[in-house]
Amino acid sequence: MISKKYAAMTKNTSIIREFAQYAGRRAAEIGAENVYNFTIGNPSVPTRPEFTEAMLRIIKETDPVALHGYSPTLTIPSVRQAVADSLNRRFGMNYKLEDIFMTSGAAGALAHAIRCVTEPGDEVITFAPYFPEYIPYVDGTGAVLKVVPADITSFQINFDAFEEMLNPNVQAILINSPNNPSGIVYSTETITRLAQILKDKQEEYGHDIYIISDEPYREIVFAGTDSPFISKFYDNSICCYSFSKSLSLPGERIGYVAVNPACKDAELIINMCGQVSRFTGHNCPASLIQLAVAEVLDLTSDLSIYEKNKNILYKELTAMGYECVEPGGTFYMFPKTPIADANEFCNMTAHELDLILVPGDSFMCPGHMRLAYCTTTEMVERALPRFEKAIRMCK
Ligand SMILES: Cc1ncc(COP(=O)(O)O)c(C=O)c1O
Repeated sequence: MISKKYAAMTKNTSIIREFAQYAGRRAAEIGAENVYNFTIGNPSVPTRPEFTEAMLRIIKETDPVALHGYSPTLTIPSVRQAVADSLNRRFGMNYKLEDIFMTSGAAGALAHAIRCVTEPGDEVITFAPYFPEYIPYVDGTGAVLKVVPADITSFQINFDAFEEMLNPNVQAILINSPNNPSGIVYSTETITRLAQILKDKQEEYGHDIYIISDEPYREIVFAGTDSPFISKFYDNSICCYSFSKSLSLPGERIGYVAVNPACKDAELIINMCGQVSRFTGHNCPASLIQLAVAEVLDLTSDLSIYEKNKNILYKELTAMGYECVEPGGTFYMFPKTPIADANEFCNMTAHELDLILVPGDSFMCPGHMRLAYCTTTEMVERALPRFEKAIRMCK
């Protein structure tokens, strides 16, 4: 018999993908240049040439039997050391090789981190709006995802609702800053307050509570925004990183788990990751990709286009009357829809204007829409009259 659970999931596909597929169909019908597709967070700038050069050099210069052989269970030691060194250099941390585990992107990192610090039935709290894949990521571990409603005035943490939701069954808090979909970066004040609440609750409940910090957008931060390194503020923290966005490598599936060395179980947690891999069938990212990424850890793609697109969209859309909290990073923004029903609005813009946006309901935050502006600036500029028409159509 086939699995009822996964069979049911095939009927419940992602709204983001549905809108993206619609954009693809329209592009085939009327030409891609006539479709204003703001749906998918696929980087629009190439990776660094240094990454490509490292791949080619490694292939040419390394013994193929060694290069293409199995990676050690806990991933390649020289790569783990290079990641630790890079984090220490850039963020004043104290990571050791033993605190790092290479993974298949942030998705792989989260699959490991959540399993390491929860038992089935435990609660994991996250904050709306959030990346909808958190639902299967957490559900797949047997833990239960609880969602704190958004503070839509700032998209920082809604602390009153959060404190109400805390209880002894909560083992982990899953945060994402810079945030998909809001583009907001948690301030030092927000992280300090979050850390203090959790420290107090750890004492009250008599057990550890972990922050799992999902950071694929850590390097995409705009001028004037303070972007604190979250693990500096809280000992029991696990950073889940990805090179998908900062180095434009989503197809290479590479990221890591970095357990804060101040966490008393850091080394055990990393060893546990090796065991989690056995259950998930994950078994290490490709050796070649691990080795190549280790050579470009302090580099990013040219990310400047994202800030340029944000500046244009934020200025022009707010001038048209859209309400939006200004993003501090990522390549997303999350304005209010001019009518309360975001699905109705996004369907209207898609079908009448070929302006393809994603309703905020997908991110547990109705009344908003997500724009992924990892597109060309030329497309952003050509889309502006459509945004103007869309808001006029609602008046
Ligand atoms: C917030 C967030 N977390 C995790 C992921 C998964 O990233 P990866 O491609 O590295 O698995 C994404 C991808 O879009 C994301 O936006």
